[in-house]
Amino acid sequence: MPHPAATEHPDTYEHNGYEIHTVVTPGDCRICHVQEAEQYSRNIMAHAYKNLAENKVYNDLENTILGGLERKNGRIAIQPATPPPGPRPAITAMGLS
Ligand code: HEC
Repeated sequence: MPHPAATEHPDTYEHNGYEIHTVVTPGDCRICHVQEAEQYSRNIMAHAYKNLAENKVYNDLENTILGGLERKNGRIAIQPATPPPGPRPAITAMGLS
């Protein structure tokens, strides 16, 4: 039976009969630490990824550094950063996928 948290990890792979999670999330800890995971989901730090991903100023900063700049009609337009290969993690209330 797959590990319950495996559905949260598009990067999980099988190794010698075990599911390896490249990135460990609070969802992994929730399996045994249900109460702590619930408490953490209410902590502002649990929402850091979502807060940044949806922050326009942060997005512009990220794109300015990682994206390209283009002149359009005498103005500078910021091109979006090229996303890394592979699926981008989905966002939930816990900052998990
Ligand atoms: C398979 C079950 C299991 C999973 C998954 C698990 N834990 Fe634990 N964890 C335990 C058990 C059992 C203890 C208590 C061990 C003891 O007291 O001897 C513990 C203890 C702890 C403690 C010490 C608590 C204290 O009061 O000293 C911390 C911190 C902790 N876990 C964090 C985590 C984190 C972070 C994760 C996820 C990355 C995680 N655990 C995943 C079972 C698990």
